[in-house]
Amino acid sequence: MKIIVEKDYESMSKKAGKILIDTIKANPKIVLGLATGSTPIGLYKELIRSHREDDLDFSNVTTFNLDEYIGISKDHPNSYGYFMYEELFKHINIPMNNTHIPHGEAEDLEEYCKYYDDLIQSHGGIDIQVLGIGENGHIAFNEPSEYLSIGTSIVELTDNTIKANSRFFGSEGEVPKSAISMGIGGILKARKIILLASGETKAPIIGKLLRTKGISTMIPASFLLLHPNVTVIVDEAAYKEMR
Ligand code: PGA
Repeated sequence: MKIIVEKDYESMSKKAGKILIDTIKANPKIVLGLATGSTPIGLYKELIRSHREDDLDFSNVTTFNLDEYIGISKDHPNSYGYFMYEELFKHINIPMNNTHIPHGEAEDLEEYCKYYDDLIQSHGGIDIQVLGIGENGHIAFNEPSEYLSIGTSIVELTDNTIKANSRFFGSEGEVPKSAISMGIGGILKARKIILLASGETKAPIIGKLLRTKGISTMIPASFLLLHPNVTVIVDEAAYKEMR
């Protein structure tokens, strides 16, 4: 695991942005794995800036998102489909057909989970996967538990995650209780992984992750230690416990 410590959120976002921009320029047909949440917004702003100022071309880029809530429609302002459109897709020249978000309203969700994994593989797999990390160590919605899913699956959100995500909703009661999420095995299939963490609330989990001696299903992000090409980019605040 390569660790890069940046001064603040802005420089963390710029660093991650540069890695992605350089890789998209080198491989315009790249398959990107994308994440939602507050953390990657600055990175998406960098991609938008590069598209506007340097004509970074997304016309042949394909994207797959990690997860989506179950129980709210894709037009709901808190759905991840809506988030991706507002924060990235509508600002760049990516054909919407090239973008994929798990379909939380699929009729047969179990069947759909298999389909989503197959779809990723039919596009040759993910070249670079962007990840955030939950305060409880989750990546995508793979919550700490005795067993972690290998492929895309339906997951129940923990109280910790519902509480953390309630800041985007009116109240905790409005946060969906379940989601569809890529599994740990799917994430580890990406050829390169970039994990971003910013701010003091992430310091305890970043400390735990970087100090862990092995993998634990109670720290889902620890499975990234098994991957040969992971770059963790954090800001000073998130790295606080490592000083
Ligand atoms: P955040 O979420 O970027 O909003 O902190 C990260 C996550 O829960 O994976």
